[in-house]
Amino acid sequence: MYKEVRDSSAMGYMATKPTMIITTLHPSEIVNAGVFGAYTNISPTQVGIAISTSSHTYANILANREFVINIPGADIVKTIRVIADSIPEEKSEVDEAGLTLKDGIATKTPSIAECVAAVEFVFDQEVSIGAHCFMIGKVVGGWIKEQFLDTDGKIDIFKARVIKDFKYPKPLYVLPGEVIEG
Ligand SMILES: Cc1cc2nc3c(=O)[nH]c(=O)nc-3n(C[C@H](O)[C@H](O)[C@H](O)COP(=O)(O)O)c2cc1C
Repeated sequence: MYKEVRDSSAMGYMATKPTMIITTLHPSEIVNAGVFGAYTNISPTQVGIAISTSSHTYANILANREFVINIPGADIVKTIRVIADSIPEEKSEVDEAGLTLKDGIATKTPSIAECVAAVEFVFDQEVSIGAHCFMIGKVVGGWIKEQFLDTDGKIDIFKARVIKDFKYPKPLYVLPGEVIEG
């Protein structure tokens, strides 16, 4: 079962900012997917991502003014290679990876059903940084699979087994480990 929301509580579904997959819509309605690790939350309702200006993701965000951050669990880590590959824009990485789409909640852009959660954004502004742009979005909704919800309404990163790239471009990821109280 999915818990679906149309507010900023969805920001809690990407706690720890694991490696994520962004889905965007090409003007032809083909769903593009790309893998991104360089992002952070910049306010309770905004996220910023360093996105290459040569990527399809960048062009689609400017064209459609929305994007979805999908959080994969370790069970679909093997699909990351396919999704991060450069494939022609007439094809969808989601199909190539054997994944399926789930309709957007507050966006036209669909998410990836096999992920543990997805957070939907409307494009806010961009800051140019050389070959990348820092793309800022404002949250409008999202969903999480109920079995991965923690008691505080955020994602339980241990149950969800989110992954974080730490040797990019080597395909190596870490899983959530020890917790210490500060
Ligand atoms: C683990 C991982 C992390 C990545 N992080 C970023 C990133 O933060 N920014 C970026 O521009 N590209 C990043 N990439 C590369 C993009 O996924 C790659 O350029 C992809 O082809 C973009 O897809 P698109 O052209 O369909 O948008 C990353 C790739 C991997 C495998």
